Amino acid sequence: MCGIIGYVGTDEALPILADGLKNLEYRGYDSAGVALVNRDGIEVHKQAGEIDDLVLPDSSPETLGIGHTRWSTHGKPTDANAHPHVDCTGDVAVVHNGIIENYADLKAELREDGHEFTSETDTEVVPHMVEDELADGMSLPDAVATVVSRLEGSFALGVVAPGYDGIVATRRGSPLVVGHGESGNFIASDVPAFIEHTRQVSYIEDGDIAHVTPAGVSVEQDGEPVDRDVETVEWEAEAAEKGGYDHYMIKEIHEQPSALRQAISGRLDELHGDVDLDIDLPAEYLQSLEEIQIVACGTSYHAGLFAARLFEEYASVRASVEIASEYKFTGGRDPWRTLVVAVTQSGETADTLSALRRADQSGARTLAVTNTVGSTVTREADHSLYIRAGPEIGVAASKTFASQVATLTLLGVYLGRRRDTLGSSAASEILSNVRGLPGAVQQVLDDEDLVLEVAEEYADGDAFFFIGRGLGYPVALEGALKLKEISYDHAEGFAAGELKHGPLALVTPDTPTLAVLTDGTRPSETLNNVKEVESRGSPVVGCSSLEADEDLLDARFDVPELGVMEPLVANVYLQLFAYHVANLKGRSIDKPRNLAKSVTVE
Ligand code: AGP
Ligand code: GLU
Repeated sequence: MCGIIGYVGTDEALPILADGLKNLEYRGYDSAGVALVNRDGIEVHKQAGEIDDLVLPDSSPETLGIGHTRWSTHGKPTDANAHPHVDCTGDVAVVHNGIIENYADLKAELREDGHEFTSETDTEVVPHMVEDELADGMSLPDAVATVVSRLEGSFALGVVAPGYDGIVATRRGSPLVVGHGESGNFIASDVPAFIEHTRQVSYIEDGDIAHVTPAGVSVEQDGEPVDRDVETVEWEAEAAEKGGYDHYMIKEIHEQPSALRQAISGRLDELHGDVDLDIDLPAEYLQSLEEIQIVACGTSYHAGLFAARLFEEYASVRASVEIASEYKFTGGRDPWRTLVVAVTQSGETADTLSALRRADQSGARTLAVTNTVGSTVTREADHSLYIRAGPEIGVAASKTFASQVATLTLLGVYLGRRRDTLGSSAASEILSNVRGLPGAVQQVLDDEDLVLEVAEEYADGDAFFFIGRGLGYPVALEGALKLKEISYDHAEGFAAGELKHGPLALVTPDTPTLAVLTDGTRPSETLNNVKEVESRGSPVVGCSSLEADEDLLDARFDVPELGVMEPLVANVYLQLFAYHVANLKGRSIDKPRNLAKSVTVE
């Protein structure tokens, strides 16, 4: 999920790697390290914490090395878990981005064969597996190809070993680029890592095995040589950090298909209608559970509202959602049969932590649902479940909302199956909708030009109202929060049925309404509310999967059919709408005024 850099050539590798790590810093990370290769072996320097604190030698003559910024997914951010990882002999070093899903089985097998592990990561199986293949007489490129054929999951890998004058790099589902320089060649997860040395890049494709040596770069796919075009990157370094996008937020909106793939990776068992979440809540406890209390703030609170409806339906359990800063007034009731779920992207939000502590003091069991391995919430909660969205830089949460909702939906299925309240075929259907999320979200992203047109038409509205029912209600709240955060326009989300109880007084021809009209939101009832605002002159934009509603809508965003996950897909239109309205107004989208990414005060 984070950053890889590698260099081989005629210059000293150490300063190139150290600069490369600094250039990757923007991606977010919790640990960093480098491995330098010399004739006799490999020298590794790695540490948890800031790159500026990483202790490196003053100089080194070596001209081959790899470096890594880690954003932990398996194992806390500790020195031992930092990359590069080495095999038993210390002669193979590996940097890895992503997740190796079948690492537990591979690790058990390797241990049985006598391999000793020094970290908790999924990554460490790779150097040990390469060690075995090299011992059998394989070349490094062949060894890596063989090992990769046994891996499940998504990854980019850079591998070095003394005796091979280069880096072997490969990818499946995680980014990897090769840089062609004058005094040597590079690998990296992103161009900014080496942009000061070269703008000549080739994009490595899934399944490619790249041999990057001082003399050049050759690529194989299934043992056959393939050509990967060399392109010139024209971006300035700052734009390159954002992958060519104008803002991190829009980059992160576009990362949702891959973030969702990571969130569900290795967790779905559609055949048996079940999920594997690795949270070990005791079966008896789950059976006797009477209530789930979700505590969260902001966007995470909206994800909680979405989830609570699913928990009630799938697991037949009372589920409430409390704004974390209000929990101190109400929380702590019936602790013995209550599971308190703290939903927090950062894992550091003070209000959420204080709600969690109150729940803990009352004796309730607690579960953290977070994006950040090793964060405070994971240290304090009894159990942790990760949403695996990758680091989010924009202050406004976008991809992490999608990953929270997807992960919490899996938690709902987990609870329903273990409480015998959800049948396997119903569960399979839900899971197949979850599986369809990355593709459906991509379809919405491909429709961005239409969203821009609609944003241009309505950007000057006096205020914006978002309406929805059922699962459309949290999405309406989230759509409004996004717009107000980044455009500074007045925006409110309402349960569609509530309009007539007051908010309708605000509706005028200058207040556009955005309506969620999908599965899970009782769209035909919401259409009545659409008529209410329309007859007061409000233009209506529908995010809709209905077949016939065109006559009622001034603009329509098509939501692909995806059952219960449709409202989450509709939300992507609302993210794009908020982004484009804010961008047309020239707002500071990634750092909106008065807001912070992680709110560590109560
Ligand atoms: C979302 O766009 C906001 N930046 C904010 O509401 C955020 O969701 C809230 O502060 C909670 O943060 P957390 O998920 O890190 O706990
Ligand atoms: N899964 C690996 C780990 O936890 C790699 C994480 C990353 O991409 O930085 O160490």
